[in-house]
Amino acid sequence: MILKWSNEFSIGNNLIDSQHKKLFMLVNSLTRLNEKNSTAADMTRTLDFILKYAVRHFKDEEALQAMYDYPDYNAHKKTHDDFTQTAIMLRDEHNKSFSYEKFKNLKNILHDWVKQHVMVDDKKIGEFIKGRVPTFSKWLSTNSKDVFRSFLYTTKTISSVP
Ligand SMILES: [Fe+2]
Ligand SMILES: [Fe+2]
Repeated sequence: MILKWSNEFSIGNNLIDSQHKKLFMLVNSLTRLNEKNSTAADMTRTLDFILKYAVRHFKDEEALQAMYDYPDYNAHKKTHDDFTQTAIMLRDEHNKSFSYEKFKNLKNILHDWVKQHVMVDDKKIGEFIKGRVPTFSKWLSTNSKDVFRSFLYTTKTISSVP
């Protein structure tokens, strides 16, 4: 099923919202790849790109949480880490010996996880940061570039993320 973005999934941060939109778009492009019209190379390339993009996004989102001292930071980060580990393991298996069944399984896992995570877990970040101002206490203690990057993007809309 195709993922459709709606403003109700917005967490009120332009960087993270634009990344979520792009993640939906990427997962949809994966969903559209099928046995008949796509090569194994197409599937591998798309999977690799999504995983790299998701990892970049997790860093930015964690930085945003750190910026606001989000109370569920550790649990949320663990969800990101566990998902990354599982997805990389499945991707490696897929790369070792390709089968459309394995690919289909992986794309279903990605689809369901992204949908559930963005619509439920990430939405809670938006509810927490709404109306609050960043504390920067974590930024001051770590001087993390990711936190600073997230702050820079807080007030402007971007169409693509490197
Ligand atoms: Fe997210
Ligand atoms: Fe998240």
